[in-house]
Amino acid sequence: MGDVKARIDELREEIKRHNDLYYTKGKPIVSDAEYDKRLKELKKLEKEHPEYASSDSPTQKVGAPVPVRDKFKKVKHTSPMLSLDSINEEEEFDKFDKTCKKELEVEAIEYLLEPKLDGLSVEIVYEKGEFARASTRGDGLIGEDVTENVKTIKTLPKKLKGDKVPDMLALRGEVMMHISAFQRLNKKQIELGEEPFANPRNAAAGSLRQLDVAITSGRELDVYVYQILAISGKLPDTQKGSVDLIKGLGLKTAPDVRCLNLTDDVIKYHRDMEKRRDSLDYEIDGVVIKVDRVDFQNRLGMRTTSPKWAVAYKFEARKEMTRVDDIAVQVGRTGILTPVALLQPVDVGGVTVSRASLHNMDEVDRLGVMIGDQVRIERAGDVIPKVIEVIKDKRTGAEREFKMPEVCPSCGTKLVKEDVFYRCPAGFACRAQIREAITHFVSKGAFDIEGFSEKTAEQLLENGLIEDVAGIYKLEANDLMTLDGWKQKKTENILNAIEKAKNVTLDRFIYALGIRNVGSHISALLAEKFTSLEKFMQSKEEELMEIKEIGPEIAESITSFFEEKNNRNVIQKLIAHGVKIKKYEKAAGKLEGKKFVFTGTLSAMSRGEAEKRIESMGGEAQSNVTKDTDYVVVGENPGSKATDAQKKDIKILREAEFLKLLSS
Ligand code: IVH
Repeated sequence: MGDVKARIDELREEIKRHNDLYYTKGKPIVSDAEYDKRLKELKKLEKEHPEYASSDSPTQKVGAPVPVRDKFKKVKHTSPMLSLDSINEEEEFDKFDKTCKKELEVEAIEYLLEPKLDGLSVEIVYEKGEFARASTRGDGLIGEDVTENVKTIKTLPKKLKGDKVPDMLALRGEVMMHISAFQRLNKKQIELGEEPFANPRNAAAGSLRQLDVAITSGRELDVYVYQILAISGKLPDTQKGSVDLIKGLGLKTAPDVRCLNLTDDVIKYHRDMEKRRDSLDYEIDGVVIKVDRVDFQNRLGMRTTSPKWAVAYKFEARKEMTRVDDIAVQVGRTGILTPVALLQPVDVGGVTVSRASLHNMDEVDRLGVMIGDQVRIERAGDVIPKVIEVIKDKRTGAEREFKMPEVCPSCGTKLVKEDVFYRCPAGFACRAQIREAITHFVSKGAFDIEGFSEKTAEQLLENGLIEDVAGIYKLEANDLMTLDGWKQKKTENILNAIEKAKNVTLDRFIYALGIRNVGSHISALLAEKFTSLEKFMQSKEEELMEIKEIGPEIAESITSFFEEKNNRNVIQKLIAHGVKIKKYEKAAGKLEGKKFVFTGTLSAMSRGEAEKRIESMGGEAQSNVTKDTDYVVVGENPGSKATDAQKKDIKILREAEFLKLLSS
């Protein structure tokens, strides 16, 4: 139970932080899809555990809290500005549709569809036909007064037209910036030596929330209206009726509005809009589906923060185009060199991407990528950003070919070619390899030293405080405190974490050594067979190959690792500094018959290793979530399998929980 509460707290904190970054600072660091995933998980947990309900939870509020240190006056909205539940898949729409029909006891429902404009939600109030005030959404109940700013938007009528103007009309719409205007603005920003905006949404937000109205006025903002929040007199019977009324009064309404009643047509509309997305001059990130009849809307009612009669059906992660500024080579733990494309930073679905792995020289050749090329990159759910193609038509002739260096960029040793890889053979004489070895040693599946990052390793090496992994156990507070950015608290935390991580099981110890080809699964098999470090260190190739999964290549990696005197020394030092090795308990059979699905990237081991680990414990890895799946293990940037698991009510394990399960 404690775990659930802890997860709820963690999600609440995280979501609040992202709300602040998105709404207040205008600088989101996760994509909408990732944000939605967290919100969904929180909602589910809160539903399952009403005992942990809290009015302070972000699920009970819409959007951002109104900043305390307010620059703008606060305004109470005429009626709450709700948010929308979002869905990502056809089946989810199907479920939404079926639930509505069941609730309303009808066979068919007319839906109103609109593109989901990616801007900022505002309330605009007209009194006696005249523009009276405007406010941001804020927390849904109270927003910030941006009347003077909105007044500068040229496309917004200051006086409603026609002869049926209501006495009071409160509207909801989206303030946004067209892509062409965004590009003009960024060009200007760069000329003025100012930071360009990451995307049109941020540009719109930054332009609207200006205390100096003259700045807003110089920016080309636009506003589309899609909802009546309050009206004197009668509200139209349908959503479409509202849209027509709004349009008739001279306001801009969302483009491409449709009324459809077949689920297939709704799905087709979503698909068509997604296809057209790149050709539009404004950003959309999905379509909004609303039950058209207002009496139906009222019967369906609402949840705390969102109506039950509408849903946002989001689009897939985006592909973006950017330029390869350079190709760098990165030296890995085992000396393998990976070419990495250094990209002109680009926003892909709300996340700034500036690097993409090119894997190896074969991949560079296959893509035909050159320095200076325009490339298309993709950030799909499960993977690290990837270069998918080179746009050769955009070449100017100034592109340069990339060549693998002949010597290691870190230590200058001549590289050797092995299969498709180039490798620096210097081992621990190469600083980059030591840094990576240390980073691996402290990682989750190994010694698991909390708060010790790659940056920490680099800083310690640079300042000569450490020479190898054993040096971790000799670090002293006085030395650490001399480092840039290291204060007492940080120093204490790291030293405590190091002390705490002195006892490890044999399998983790073996894995931490970072022997080539020996991942966590093979480490477990070795620990099981040899039971002690001494026996393992003395093992011969033939003995090693008695393990079914170990062939000559792995066996050779192991024996040559121990032939290296330096490696033996490091192990001796670790033991001398107080590292204790606990016996490895055979875990086979512990997961007998359990079925696992993996999604996202695990940090402690590769997907393949994780699968082997569970198989060695009697479990089974599946490629898709089925009704028989027992666990879905969720790493960084998970794909739709995670949502699938939630829908099917299958136990979700985060990486830490999964590792606990493996080692318990
Ligand atoms: S309707 C109760 N329609 O999407 C219905 N919202 O997460 C409230 N949005 O905050 C919203 N285009 O800023 C609606 N055609 C559209 C929209 C739209 C964009 C935004 C809006 C809202 C968010 C929903």
